[in-house]
Amino acid sequence: MEVVIVKDAKAGGELIADGIAGLLRRKPDALLGVATGSTPLPIYDALTARVRAGSVDASRARIAQLDEYVGLPAGHPESYRSTVLRQVVEPLGLSADQFMGPDGSAEDVQAACEAYDKALAEAGGVDLQILGIGTDGHIGFNEPCSSLASRTRIKTLTEQTRVDNARFFDDIEQVPHHVITQGIGTILEARHLVLLATGEGKAEAVAQTVEGPVAALVPASALQLHPHATVVVDEAAASKLKLADYFRHTFANKPAWQGI
Ligand code: PGA
Repeated sequence: MEVVIVKDAKAGGELIADGIAGLLRRKPDALLGVATGSTPLPIYDALTARVRAGSVDASRARIAQLDEYVGLPAGHPESYRSTVLRQVVEPLGLSADQFMGPDGSAEDVQAACEAYDKALAEAGGVDLQILGIGTDGHIGFNEPCSSLASRTRIKTLTEQTRVDNARFFDDIEQVPHHVITQGIGTILEARHLVLLATGEGKAEAVAQTVEGPVAALVPASALQLHPHATVVVDEAAASKLKLADYFRHTFANKPAWQGI
């Protein structure tokens, strides 16, 4: 696992956008797995700026959703489908047919989960998966004690996550209790995992993810099992890392051509 400590969220967004730009140069139709929440927005802003400036051609990129609320009416502005269309697909100038996600309004949720896992595999698998992290250590919506081998399935949100996400809704009662999320086993199949965490509220979860044992109690710790995982953190989110100085030294001395 590589840990990169950056000055702030904007610098994290720039670094990861550069990584995505490099991937798109090597593989123009790469499948990018995207996360929602506030944290990844600087990545999408930086990538959009590169596309608009003409330094990156994302026209053949494909976008895959990580998770989705269950039970929000189709087209609800806070569904993750609507959110990803608004924050990623439209700004990059892509069309809806370059985008895939699980169907959170399906009558048969289990079938929708299985169909999404299958669709990801048929699309050739995710090349680069962007991840955020919950204050409880979740990735996607894999809450603590999710199986590290889990596939895409329905999960029940912790009250902590519902409280954390209530800011996107008029009140907490509107935050769904259930979600579809790529499983941890599904996420680990992506070729490159890139987790961005910013702010002091994430410091404890980051420390457990990077320096704690691999444990279902901290779902993000599963990144330790992946051969190409990059954790990008700002100074505040890095504040509880024992090896912070080592991580800074390593990145400062890394050959520039290596990228993330
Ligand atoms: P946030 O959400 O980026 O809005 O903090 C992260 C997450 O829950 O994965």
